[in-house]
Amino acid sequence: MTSPSDLSLAPERALTRGRVVVHSLLWLTVGNTVGLLLASLLLWPTLGQFLEPLSYGRWVPVHLDLQLYGWSALPLVGLLLLWYLPLEDGDGSAKFALEVWSGALLFGALSTLAGGSGGKLFLEWSGAARWVFLGTLVVLWAVLARCLYLRWSRGGKRGNAGLRGRVGIQAVTLLLLALVPPVLWIASGAAVYPPINPDSGGATGTSLLGSSLGIVSLFLATPWILGLELRGSSRVQAVLASLLGLHFLGFLLLPHGDQSHHELLQTFGLASLVLWLPLVAVALRGFSWPTGARRWLLGMGVWGGLLVTTAVTTFLPGFLEAFKFTDWLVAHAHLAMAGLVTSFNGLVLLVVARGTPWSEVLAAPIPFWMWQGGCALLVSSLAWAGFRESSFPGGLAIVDIVVQRLYLARWGAGLLMTLASMIWLRDALGRSGPEDSRR
Ligand code: HEM
Repeated sequence: MTSPSDLSLAPERALTRGRVVVHSLLWLTVGNTVGLLLASLLLWPTLGQFLEPLSYGRWVPVHLDLQLYGWSALPLVGLLLLWYLPLEDGDGSAKFALEVWSGALLFGALSTLAGGSGGKLFLEWSGAARWVFLGTLVVLWAVLARCLYLRWSRGGKRGNAGLRGRVGIQAVTLLLLALVPPVLWIASGAAVYPPINPDSGGATGTSLLGSSLGIVSLFLATPWILGLELRGSSRVQAVLASLLGLHFLGFLLLPHGDQSHHELLQTFGLASLVLWLPLVAVALRGFSWPTGARRWLLGMGVWGGLLVTTAVTTFLPGFLEAFKFTDWLVAHAHLAMAGLVTSFNGLVLLVVARGTPWSEVLAAPIPFWMWQGGCALLVSSLAWAGFRESSFPGGLAIVDIVVQRLYLARWGAGLLMTLASMIWLRDALGRSGPEDSRR
């Protein structure tokens, strides 16, 4: 995914890198601002009267979808675009795909605020918004297919074995990606529902293991797609990839369907994820990362360790019943996404932007520590609130002054995180392409 030469050789590629950074940080900032609004409404519910009919219930799916399909997805969309874009230079099709993606997010958010939500967590789109999002996925696929064709016609078919092999891997990946639009269309339909844990009403151990192994695959594949130099042994990487294959086999052999967390196999299945804490670290340490990456890798390590250990504990019989409907699970969601996924995305964007004027944006220490410090305060205040609510369930029905103070702490943490994302966005918008590099 060559970079230092991009500026001079391929200004459009450099601009694409900058656009990926800007679009991703834009939706993080909007998602956080909505999160801050939600935190304000939970702290001062009377504020809701001034927002009617845009009530709390309409803003929650906006927060979730913009954080998932905006901030969490766009760095990966950018990664795909840069992986497929012809080396020589792009023609604006990547720009088009990014703008269509952001347009669909805006359309989806407005449709949800107008009351058009299908009510399924992270799959709310209904009516026109559902078609628009499906169309966006098809546009992205078509842009990738066109880029692959250009790569092949411009050099792949005459190229060396390495290039032909790479085009082959991209072609297989493209075929797999063709499954995403129909799968998301079916999954967002009212008739389809995921397996349910009958004793918690939430996800089963098997489903949680499956989605987590998907994230582990992403962590292991990303350094290769980023084109980072392997400094460790390729044999170690091959062994880790085989272990992951075996783990997926284990996942397929686990009982699927509505399974309770009281089933030992469900607990063991989920607990097996702990293996990947040291193994992902070994995999990522095998590559040379650019300056500024160490902090984000550290963030991934700390949040990843906290996430897996607390998640496996929370899933144990007795614990899940106690914590299920408390702020402990909101803490868990933010530990996973605002902690681990955001640290991974910061790392990806830093590498995607290397060699361009945008590379310094995610390398800046102050917004990085504002984010991590705010996230630590947000997660710990919600975990404490959840702990209190689990030991004093009545506290959920009355105004518990301790929980109120913890909500104030969460609000303050949210403000810090929103300001950090605004600094990143302002900085990214302040850079404007190759001519920037001469400064
Ligand atoms: C500015 C920082 C943020 C604030 C103030 C914030 C605030 C909130 C609030 C108030 C809720 C609703 C909680 C409830 O229903 O009791 C929520 C839910 C959620 N937020 Fe955030 N959030 C922030 C950042 C993020 C980020 C960066 C992500 C993901 C990358 C995220 C993902 C989620 C998820 C997945 C939920 C659903 C949790 C659940 O229902 O269990 N949030 N957030």
